[in-house]
Amino acid sequence: MYYKRIITDDVYYVGESDRRLERFENMFELPNGVAYNSYLIVDEKTALSDGIDETVSERYYENIRFALDGRDLDYLIVNHVEPDHCSSINNVLREYPQAVMVITQKGLQFMEQFYNLDYRDRVMIVKEGDRLDLGKHQLEFIMAPNVHWPEVMVTYDHTDKILFSADAFGAFGAIEGHLFADQVNFERDWLAEARRYYINIVGRQGASVMRLFKKLEGKDINLIAPLHGLVFRTPDMISMILEKYTKWATYEPEEQGVVLVAASMYGDSQNMNDILAAMLADRGVENIRVYDVSKTPVSAIIADLFRFSNAVFTCLTYNTLLYPGMDALMRELVMLNYSNRRISYLENQSWGGRALDIAQEIFSKSKNLEVVGEPFKIKSSVAPEQMDDLLKLADEIAASV
Ligand code: FEO
Repeated sequence: MYYKRIITDDVYYVGESDRRLERFENMFELPNGVAYNSYLIVDEKTALSDGIDETVSERYYENIRFALDGRDLDYLIVNHVEPDHCSSINNVLREYPQAVMVITQKGLQFMEQFYNLDYRDRVMIVKEGDRLDLGKHQLEFIMAPNVHWPEVMVTYDHTDKILFSADAFGAFGAIEGHLFADQVNFERDWLAEARRYYINIVGRQGASVMRLFKKLEGKDINLIAPLHGLVFRTPDMISMILEKYTKWATYEPEEQGVVLVAASMYGDSQNMNDILAAMLADRGVENIRVYDVSKTPVSAIIADLFRFSNAVFTCLTYNTLLYPGMDALMRELVMLNYSNRRISYLENQSWGGRALDIAQEIFSKSKNLEVVGEPFKIKSSVAPEQMDDLLKLADEIAASV
């Protein structure tokens, strides 16, 4: 792109967006694409913060050349080694033969595991609190293990008070002209994808995120520059995203509400869910989401399960066990430390099986899931004489929201 994207006076955005990739990490749907962010500081010394995915790298190299405007690159700072940021690194080091890679010890280990690293003699290993003087800009490296991988660090620019935050504060979604969160309707157009990104990618590592926040206490942050999504530069947007992250990282719901997740082969279990949802609506529950686990991308269901306070899981019997889609969803929730929620169970079995037992067994590994009401059970379809029991469960759920 022969056009400079200015972050501050001498800090430029040189990242690129990928609108063709179907799934991030080959797992998570990307209806709006994804941006791989990278930043260039042009000071007495020049420094590039992070690389991007090789699939869109040709334009990236052009961005760097244009922003450098004939200068050489002195440092390549690698905050995170995952290939969505580092598959381009060898090429950058080849193009800029004097550039030194700034990385953690573990980061170097991972670089060597992933890539045939050609430039081992041009490496500066940094650890907690180490600094790099670029002239005007004074950078400090802060270790952030497991936000998202063990080698991660973030970089704090003491001069412009920029936090180069690695994956933290990222979002799915390609850049649509605007680089800054305050230029768009973030809550309407980006928040859901920021939540889906965080919960599914970094969600398991809440304690690590909170440890990083502790280290950042006392540091003025005027701008957050993540590796995906938009840049945060206004106090209200920075407060907003920090507040969201604190909820997500401590596994607290953002809002009161009920997410009903069904698995349903012929619609009878879905009907049970729809009846319960209608009863909850009539009992004043404001936020209700109803999903079919076989239809909606699991990452979106998981994001909403983290967003709201209550959930109802339909345990459909399949080959005497728990329906595979629901089984996978529940195990993924446990993996992501889903906790501090109130949950209820529905079960459908026509002639036997262990669906509910398996669901309860899976969630027994989760912390602080309070079960509301008795599991409501049907055989094949809801019978009229069962409606009182379902009404009782609706009363109990509504009272707990
Ligand atoms: Fe954006 Fe953990 O990689």
